[in-house]
Amino acid sequence: MNEPLRRYWHPVSWSADLEAHPVGTTLLEERVVLWRDAQGMPHAGMDQCPHRGTALSLGTVNDGGCLVCPYHGWTYDTAGTCTSMPQLAPDARMPERARVPIFHCAERSGLVWVCLEDPVADIPAFPEWDDPAYQHVACAAYTWQCGAGRMVENFTDFGHLGYLHDGLLGTSDDLIVPPHQVVTESGALYYDLTMTVPNTNEEFAVTDVTGERGLQTNTYVLTLPYSIHLACRYHDADTHRTLFFAVQPHSATEATGYCYQSRDFDLGADPRSFSEFQAVLAEQDRPIVESQAPKEIPLDLKDELQLPYDKVAIAYRRAMADLLK
Ligand code: FES
Ligand code: CO
Repeated sequence: MNEPLRRYWHPVSWSADLEAHPVGTTLLEERVVLWRDAQGMPHAGMDQCPHRGTALSLGTVNDGGCLVCPYHGWTYDTAGTCTSMPQLAPDARMPERARVPIFHCAERSGLVWVCLEDPVADIPAFPEWDDPAYQHVACAAYTWQCGAGRMVENFTDFGHLGYLHDGLLGTSDDLIVPPHQVVTESGALYYDLTMTVPNTNEEFAVTDVTGERGLQTNTYVLTLPYSIHLACRYHDADTHRTLFFAVQPHSATEATGYCYQSRDFDLGADPRSFSEFQAVLAEQDRPIVESQAPKEIPLDLKDELQLPYDKVAIAYRRAMADLLK
């Protein structure tokens, strides 16, 4: 099941969290080591020394930007070639098999991305990242015991907004999901929906709503497999708040979500208001999503009940079934 997913880019770390020393993570059940070379460029490889299987993420990076295994000091360059073996006699030949598999690694919109095979698609777009009108807040990354598909679907599930997040993302007296259409095209789902949102500003100054409630249009691009760009427009003020959400699939039962909140209003506001708002929502969602069985979304639509308002999930499951074929 992981094979097709290995050809897509996945986020593996905030850029700011990846420093010079190596760190280990998992992506699609693969142990991955991340490090930066002397120029600060990020690299990714298999987190397993071919000598004795030691995690290279326990090692160090030398002045030349090479990864040094902590067990016997074998040293690997950014192409994965072993360039030094302290135990090798000076006239002995370097064994050919002393290589670490290297993965595609790139840095984009404040995240480090890895693709385990040759990529078949681009890194999902986050156009506001380069727009000086916007200010970005990186919310705390959250790791849940669930499949990445469950996390993605939860982020875009309209039916729960006013129910589970009553008073924050919607209100329990207004649960009918407004009509919307989903278009699936070249690896992405496109849909938008206009809804009434509560003014949360007394508790969390994150919305740009003046009265008790305001109208908000949400425009979504869900890029397969696990990223969502959600552009919200507040009708009152004609201002925008964008959420860029990308999920790292560690395995079928564990995923990490990275979320940016970007806005073009209240630029002087305390960024904590935005990250704390997201943290409260995530803690409301987490026990629900972690309880869902099976851990990963079933791709056969008959396995769960689909209502007309579940259009996005229906389109997403169809598209994922296609991708994983
Ligand atoms: Fe890595 Fe021996 S296990 S050098
Ligand atoms: Co939620």
